[in-house]
Amino acid sequence: MNEKTIESILKENRSFAPTQNFVKKAKLKESDFQDLRIKAEENYEEYWADLARNNIHWFKDFTETLDSSNAPNYEWFTDGELNVSYNCLDVHASIMPNKKAIIFESEDGELKTFTYKDLLEEVSAFSNGLLKLGVQPMDRVIIYMPMVPEAIIAMQACARIGAVHSVVFGGFSANALRDRINDAGAKIVITADGAYRGGKIIPLKDSTDTALEQDCECIEHVVVLKRTNESIAMDEKRDIWWDRLIHGESKHCDAVSLPSEHPLFILYTSGSTGKPKGIQHSAGGYILHAKLTNQWVFDLKDNDVFWCTADVGWITGHSYVAYGPLAAGATIMIYEGAPTYPHGGRFWEICQKHKVTIFYTAPTAIRALMKLGDELPNAYDLSSIRLLGTVGEPINPEAWIWYHKTIGKEQCPIVDTWWQTETGGIMISPIPSETATKPGSCTIPLPGIFADIIDESGNPVTEAYQGGYLVIKKPWPSMLRTIWGDNDRYVETYWEKFNNEFYVAGDSAHRDKDGYFWILGRIDDVLNVSGHRLGTMEVESALVAHPEIAEAAVVGKPHEIKGEGIFAYVVPKGKRPLGDDAEKMTVILRNWVAEQVGPIAKPDEIRYSDNLPKTRSGKIMRRLLRSIARNEKITQDISTLEDESILEQLQGKD
Ligand code: PRX
Repeated sequence: MNEKTIESILKENRSFAPTQNFVKKAKLKESDFQDLRIKAEENYEEYWADLARNNIHWFKDFTETLDSSNAPNYEWFTDGELNVSYNCLDVHASIMPNKKAIIFESEDGELKTFTYKDLLEEVSAFSNGLLKLGVQPMDRVIIYMPMVPEAIIAMQACARIGAVHSVVFGGFSANALRDRINDAGAKIVITADGAYRGGKIIPLKDSTDTALEQDCECIEHVVVLKRTNESIAMDEKRDIWWDRLIHGESKHCDAVSLPSEHPLFILYTSGSTGKPKGIQHSAGGYILHAKLTNQWVFDLKDNDVFWCTADVGWITGHSYVAYGPLAAGATIMIYEGAPTYPHGGRFWEICQKHKVTIFYTAPTAIRALMKLGDELPNAYDLSSIRLLGTVGEPINPEAWIWYHKTIGKEQCPIVDTWWQTETGGIMISPIPSETATKPGSCTIPLPGIFADIIDESGNPVTEAYQGGYLVIKKPWPSMLRTIWGDNDRYVETYWEKFNNEFYVAGDSAHRDKDGYFWILGRIDDVLNVSGHRLGTMEVESALVAHPEIAEAAVVGKPHEIKGEGIFAYVVPKGKRPLGDDAEKMTVILRNWVAEQVGPIAKPDEIRYSDNLPKTRSGKIMRRLLRSIARNEKITQDISTLEDESILEQLQGKD
């Protein structure tokens, strides 16, 4: 996070108690949460066991709640059996078949709705289609789709038959897709002929073809949804249209009974090495937490229209679009396109049109929309909105206050939810009827989540405002189970630092005098660009893969809208480009990185030098590079610099 933001949140002392009106109408009251907190403290396992029994439909009850015998590979409800799709669809379709499950609006304004009965039938037909292709439990299925109802249908269908999906964000490149296909050893790719975004068409099937040209022998079939009617190549033996696959298929498909620990999905996220990590989640624990947090944090009621703007390519789109709200029987809004297309009021127009009651988005979107001015939101009737949420990065108080005043009209609680791909669901967040909020703080852990801040020796940081490692001290049901295919990396990344005792989130945080948590940012080489995690190494590997580049180092730099921008220092193999040549090279490299990883990884700035600053032992001096990128006074000791003359080049002075 940028220093200015840190500075402003350090000074932040405003507090907003829930309004009486909200408290009066809230579904769950303060006392309900007090009871939950007491129970979680007193008998942790019984607390989770009761929640699991009361909230999930088990085909077979479990006898053991938490198995710690292979810690830190914890297992939850191990001998229980369930089906996630059954819990999201069948349980609701049987009692409220006509309740809307999905309201979909596409970028061009097309509308579609699915009731729970419709959704169950569509998911069942598609499940039968996948079975016809030979998909078996545990087979991996890649979903590389636009943000359309079929993406959710595909995820739910995998869950229904026990296949393990891995959704790859549609904005990722063919190369990124190929790496994920190979790492997961996937058998099927589900994609579309294209996706609409900002008036353009993103050629998903073309990228899939490019990915599959490069050693993806594991893939047997590609299922293609007709979305944009672009002309695309179809390989007769390998590719099949979605419509053709489900043609004549029964709208009934039994949900298979699966062990609680059956992997539900793998979702790749960036770490501090160049290779993304396949975060693996299990069925039972994940769906329990996704459902509960939807109910608790968003005070979900029967008539709510819940809109989480995240794409299903990210964890937020898993837990608060495709799974959690459906498990809770909610009506969700989904929108396919860009937030400001064809005009800056598009989000607010959707809220008005579909009477959205709960709106959950990322600070980067809030900042971008705030910049467009108040006239846009003021032109729409936003009175249906009763609760606002934010996720993905620390929110600066200025954006928080704008969200509170201009969108929430000072009536809606704002839930600032801290969590991660690895945690599966929200961990630290206000409960809207209970917790007073403070702009920029995710407040306090949810009942049953034992978050703490500790110092280098593992002792709790008790001093207010003193930073430390954010850790979770007890396992929780929706925790990641491992990194797909690399359990050593799982243990090393998340547990080893404190003797396998605590889960280490990779964030630093501090607590204020009221015990509220304030997230300060990542402690590893991971950037948070527009709320998306990107490893500096990933961008560096992409840059050095260019034939003309010898070395690269990437650091984060505060960015007004994105939160963090990407600043790259590049050493070319040949002569260092200057003036126009440098500009031309920058265009080439930005496009190159977009091709290698995806447009989100494009560096905002590139600076060329003859060398990178290294210590005598050869380590790149990243802190120095960070200071230079931010135009800060250099306070680092540069006496160990091998070649001091490059300093001017790095500063852009030469
Ligand atoms: O640094 C934290 C930040 O996002 C990271 C997790 O990224 P990802 O796995 O992509 O998941 C994003 C959506 C859950 C965290 O380690 N982060 C997430 N939420 C917040 C946050 N930082 C501050 N405040 C938040 N509410």
